[in-house]
Order: sequence, then C-alpha cells, then structure tokens
Amino acid sequence: MAEPIRFYFRNAVHEVTGVAPTQTILQHLREDLRCTGTKEGCAEGDCGACTVVVGSLENGQLELKAVNSCIQFTPTLDGKALFTVEDLQLPDGRLHPVQQALVECHGSQCGFCTPGFAMSLWGMYLKQEGQQPSRCQVDDALSGNLCRCTGYRPIIEAAGRMLELPRAEFDRAAVADALRSLQRGELHTYAFEGRSFHAPRTLDELVALRSANPQALILAGSTDVGLWVTKQMRELNDIIYIGNVAELKSVAERDGVLEIGAGVTLQDAYAAVCRHYPAELAEMWQRFASLPIRNAGTLGGNVANGSPIGDSMPWLIALGARLVLRGGAGERELALEDFYLGYQQKDLQADEIVAALRVPLPRTEVRFRTYKLAKRFDQDISAVCAAFALTLDGATVTEARIAFGGMAATPKRAASAEALLNGRVWNEAALQEAMAALAQDYAPLSDMRASSAYRMKTAQNLLRRFWLETRLDNPLPPSAVNAFAATA
Ligand SMILES: Cc1cc2nc3c(=O)[nH]c(=O)nc-3n(C[C@H](O)[C@H](O)[C@H](O)COP(=O)(O)OP(=O)(O)OC[C@H]3O[C@@H](n4cnc5c(N)ncnc54)[C@H](O)[C@@H]3O)c2cc1C
Ligand code: FES
Ligand code: FES
Repeated sequence: MAEPIRFYFRNAVHEVTGVAPTQTILQHLREDLRCTGTKEGCAEGDCGACTVVVGSLENGQLELKAVNSCIQFTPTLDGKALFTVEDLQLPDGRLHPVQQALVECHGSQCGFCTPGFAMSLWGMYLKQEGQQPSRCQVDDALSGNLCRCTGYRPIIEAAGRMLELPRAEFDRAAVADALRSLQRGELHTYAFEGRSFHAPRTLDELVALRSANPQALILAGSTDVGLWVTKQMRELNDIIYIGNVAELKSVAERDGVLEIGAGVTLQDAYAAVCRHYPAELAEMWQRFASLPIRNAGTLGGNVANGSPIGDSMPWLIALGARLVLRGGAGERELALEDFYLGYQQKDLQADEIVAALRVPLPRTEVRFRTYKLAKRFDQDISAVCAAFALTLDGATVTEARIAFGGMAATPKRAASAEALLNGRVWNEAALQEAMAALAQDYAPLSDMRASSAYRMKTAQNLLRRFWLETRLDNPLPPSAVNAFAATA
C-alpha cells in the first residue's frame, strides 16, 4: 500500500504526498515549503550551498550528518529528521554560536554560501562537545563548501570561535524519541503518478523486491544517481532504496577479512579500513569527494557504479577484495576485478544486488600503497588513481597486484607489469621494466581531466614512487596524511 513520506521537521512530524519520487530535498524545501535559506548553487553535490543536516537512528542511536540536499530524494527522508539553517536560531531569538562566530569572524560577504557553511559547521559543532577541532578536522568538515568571496580564512577562524562561545544545547533525546515513533516495522512504499519508491527494511525483503522488479533502479546514497536526475534530466523507473536495510549496514571482521555491507557509507567504510591501513589509505579517505558526499554515498555504490575513474576500486582490487552478490538464487562471491566486464558492463544479474565487500586485512609480507592524482586536493575526480600491493618473500616478489583507475574503460589490473615483477627481486631494474610494461597494459584516453600521455607518464611515475616508499634498502615513509586518520 502506498504511504506518505513522514519525517521530523521543525519539531513536528511532517507528511509529504503528491511529489515525484525523484523530487530532491532541496526542491521540497524551497518550492513546496518556501524555506529558502537553503540555496542551490550547482545541483550536483559540488558547492555545498544546499547543505542540510539529516538525523537518523542507527542501531538505536541518533546520528546527525551534513549532506547535500540537492542530490537527495525526498522519500529517502522517511523515518528521519531534517534540519536546515532556519533551525539554528536559538529559542530566545539569539544567533546560534555557529552563526555568531561567522558574524564575528567576518565569515560572510555576499552570503550565498553562508547557510551551507553554517550547516557544515553545525555538523562539526554537534560532534565537538566543546573541544577545539584540529585544522585537519575543520578542513575536512568544510571540504564540500565553496565560497567565492571570503578566501576561507574567516570561515576557518569561525570554526574555532564557535566553540569558545557559550554552548547551545541540542535535545538529542527528543529527536531520537520522535524518530523512534516514526520507524516502520515493514517495507515503505511511496508512489506518485505510476512511479514507486520502495524502501525495504530487511535483506530478504530487498531480494524479493529485486526479483519481482528487475527493471527498478537500486538507490543507495544517491551521489551518482542524484545527478542523473538533476544534470542529465533523466526520468527514473521505480526505485528500490537500500538505505534502510539493516543487514547491509554492518561492518564485521572475521578470518583475516573485513566485511563491509554495501549500505555502509563511504565515511564509515573508510574509517573501518583506515583502522587497519591508516598510513596507506588515510589520504584516499580524506581526498574522496567531500564529507557530505561521503556521509551519503556508499562503498557498495562506488563499486556497483563501477566508474573507470572511481577511487575505491584500484585499492580494493590491489588488496584482493571480493564482492558478495545476492540474488533470488542465493549468494555468490567473486574477485572484484572479475565484476567489470567492459565500460559500464558488470557481471551482475538482473535480480542481483551488491551485498558486501570482503577486504583482506594487512599481512606483514605485503607492501601496499594507493595514490590519487587530481587537480584539487579534495572534492575532485581522479585523472589517475593507482594501487600497488606486493607480497614479498625476503627480497623476492611472490605476488604483484597492480590496479589503476583512469587508464582504461574499467578499473583494471596491469597484467604485463605484474607478470614482470613476479619472481623478481624488488629492485630498480625490476621497477624500470615494470614501468615500461605499463605501456602494454594500458592505452589511456585523453579527456578534460588529462591527456593520454600525461596519464601514462604519471602512472609510470606512481609506480616509481611506490618503489621509493617500499624499496628494501632505504624506504621512504608513506606519504599519507596521518594526522587525518588520527583525528577524523
Ligand atoms: C561532488 C561529488 C564528488 C565525488 N567524488 C568522488 C571521488 O572523489 N571519488 C569517487 O570514486 N567517486 C566520487 N563521486 C561519485 C560517488 O560519490 C561515488 O561513486 C559513490 O560511492 C556512489 O555511491 P552511492 O551510494 O551514492 O550510489 P548511488 O548513486 O545510490 O548508486 C550508484 C549506482 O550504483 C548502483 N548501486 C548502488 N548500490 C548498489 C547495490 N548495493 N547493488 C547494486 N547496485 C547498486 C545504483 O543502481 C547506481 O547505478 C563523487 C560524486 C559527487 C556528486
Ligand atoms: S547545490 Fe551545490 S552542492 Fe548542492
Ligand atoms: S560569501 Fe559570497 S560566496 Fe561565500
């Protein structure tokens, strides 16, 4: 039965009907509710003008996260809480410390970006409990917000100043109670003009729905799919939203493997793998999109979308990660590299979904690094993304696993370079031959991000960097931003 969308908004339960399943939260706020504090800049998750905070119950606990309302669909709010810049003002009419600090530090000029910055800052404020954030934490919290006027320094200062002001309390218990009363025991289906949005709560419900509707679109964090609607103006079929399926949100460690459910957000998934690979993966974590994108997007979505320039696949493939697929006929597992058959072609049956990733835990004999080359430090798509994992027996390579993004139509292993290294001593002679062999493995494209020649040159040089960092005689320390792993 079709049900309205219900979410907690302005201290009350808000019900929505009569909107398209792909209406964005931003459209709902601005066009239906006339709450115009939240702005539209890019409509593609890049500028942060539309940042809101969404509250949800995860394992019974309230979690509050900044997300981009321009690429999230309104029905995903069912059972959640929505906070916008209009919620910040204190009950007695005073400015919230976040807003007061922005005023005192001159963090606003034209003001267009300010509501988005205020919400990203509020997201951090809620976590800080009075402690001063590190510069790394501030940069990360603001990584999804652009400002054309201020030059950022005053906004970064406001991030410190807001915590010096008398603290504004936030009644978490009241919001959590409200959300408990909104939870549904069963599948939620919202429908409008013949199109449905299904939100199952269990894996069995999801698999049954998928088998019955193989043409429906699976929606996870919407950080790819949202843009199909807002930028490509695509009309989507029925949608099956996996964001409420509890089994897909678990992270478990067993038998030397970290199993990450397909519904785990990028932020939580990278936090989990970085506990095991802090030096090797911390920089990739920090440089993957921005915090609001990582708060919404999932690792499963990154892998399922399978973009040739996605950032997680090279390191997952180099580490030997395996993919768990679930369909009507049960579960099957395959090596991640075998999932990619060609450009946008995957080994995924119509009734299957990606259920989990199994990532091997560190072994002392494996040297592993991953590198991202992009024009900006954060919130940018890779021109080239590289990952290398060498298993060594003393000085000899017993297994080389090399994978690149941005070099082929799919995330792809470097078969020739790997073959050259297997059985060889890990020295400069072997390195140089492997660098040359990359030209047999890849024929990269030229596009707006980089030329073919640049991609090949930098791919070879990244292999050299890996050697410099892992050479047996005089290794360099890993280049990762360890401070981020320590504080994020
Ligand atoms: C501003 C911005 C910056 C970005 N920066 C980066 C970046 O730095 N690096 C990078 O790699 N990517 C980046 N992305 C892309 C995107 O964030 C990632 O690909 C993300 O992991 C997608 O996950 P999602 O949960 O949002 O997927 P969705 O958008 O919900 O889905 C993506 C695709 O995967 C399918 N899908 C999702 N989950 C499943 C499942 N469990 N089973 C089967 N199919 C499924 C969907 O049907 C859809 O085809 C960026 C995107 C934006 C908007
Ligand atoms: S409007 Fe730019 S991120 Fe949403
Ligand atoms: S104050 Fe003008 S864009 Fe930031």
